[in-house]
Amino acid sequence: MKISVKGCGYLGAVHAAAMATLGHEVVGVDPDARKIELLQSGETPFFEPGLDEILRAGLASGRLSFSTETERAAGAQVHFIAVGTPQSADSGSADLSYVRAAIADLLPLLGPDQLVVGKSTVPVGTAAELARLVSETGARLAWNPEFLREGFAVQDTIAPDRLVYGVDRESGDADAAVLDAVYAEALAAGTPRIVTDYATAELVKVAANSFLATKISFINAMSEIAETVGADVVTLADAIGHDERIGRKFLGAGLGFGGGCLPKDIRAFVARAEELGTGESVAFLKQMDEINLRRRQRVVDLVVGSFDGSDLGDGATPLAGRSVAMLGLSFKPNSDDVRDSPALDVAARLHALGAVVSAYDPETNRNAAARVPDLRYCDSVEDAVRGAEIVVLGTEWLEFRELDPAGLRTQVERAVIVDGRNALDPDAWRGAGWTYHGMGR
Ligand code: UDX
Repeated sequence: MKISVKGCGYLGAVHAAAMATLGHEVVGVDPDARKIELLQSGETPFFEPGLDEILRAGLASGRLSFSTETERAAGAQVHFIAVGTPQSADSGSADLSYVRAAIADLLPLLGPDQLVVGKSTVPVGTAAELARLVSETGARLAWNPEFLREGFAVQDTIAPDRLVYGVDRESGDADAAVLDAVYAEALAAGTPRIVTDYATAELVKVAANSFLATKISFINAMSEIAETVGADVVTLADAIGHDERIGRKFLGAGLGFGGGCLPKDIRAFVARAEELGTGESVAFLKQMDEINLRRRQRVVDLVVGSFDGSDLGDGATPLAGRSVAMLGLSFKPNSDDVRDSPALDVAARLHALGAVVSAYDPETNRNAAARVPDLRYCDSVEDAVRGAEIVVLGTEWLEFRELDPAGLRTQVERAVIVDGRNALDPDAWRGAGWTYHGMGR
């Protein structure tokens, strides 16, 4: 099939390359000339395991190309919309300007027998509104939300755990058949497929992300209680996770959720529900957001509390002159994404309190420095911890999980660690002479 993908950011670049892997002829379109040049030369603009390979294979096969010109999408049977829907600057609601611009660009090219397929995460009600515009050209619209996880994006796109099609009530069967042809390989492998209306498809995405965020904030709320009574949240999570109805996944207590999706999606969901007059139904999500943000301050408090009062500065800069090593800055491991990253936020807060923060992340230093330039960026764990008075683990990269506490102890000034992700073995670290602080344990 001939396919276009409008928007070559994270979602679009992965989707375009994955569609070419499935045998389709794909053009990815984005107005950012630098991004297009990189992709067309086989370079990925961000870190995503496995994407380089499928990108280069797609380009070499001649089935995949990238362009800044929307006209190159003319004649495609399926036009995917994969542009961003960031949080609006002035409120929690989703900024739909990129989605609207993408549709406006496509409209002059559309005609009968063409399907526009939205993948971006949008407020419920958006697809129905866009469908009216698209139908004036004779083309149709479907909404096909994307559930990919960073770090597993290629696998999640080629072999998703479910496919959801939101379609028009009248032309729905034909539109679903077109999407079946796009995803023939996944369907043949048994991927469940749910065909529904636009509103349900839009809601599936935000409901899934809200549930995941709620699970994480639930266990982090238990962390707060555990800290008060001296209980261990990790053992608690293991114990409740054995109940199949609960499950152990996404009960990782720690610094909480960040990234380009969960935080903005729950805020946009609350904003949309309030607009619709049903804000009360999802008011709990505001609390989930608050619990999540409180965990960052907890790490900062643990750092400050680890010093004797006599070592602390006054007023707004209690950590003046104190040396802190920050291990990990990305919002999660195997990603170079620092959007709404809890680790980077903690580093920035510590810096604001006067600390000299020496930070190291295996993939993220450059992206982090663009947002928080004032940290001392280091090329290795050794460089970051040399002479440190406290070490903070912000992102659980494998490299940090495998650190040797005895060896590291010889390099620091004071052997104190705050494990913001409960990624280390407390007994091993304490046994090697460290003062170990976990989250909720
Ligand atoms: C998420 C959803 O998982 C995905 O389905 C959706 O399409 C996009 O948003 P992603 O943003 O890649 O994907 O990250 P995810 O792996 O879900 O992690 C989100 C955040 O939650 C990370 O900051 C992670 O560190 C945190 N997290 C995750 C926890 O704090 N505890 C956990 O147990 C799991």
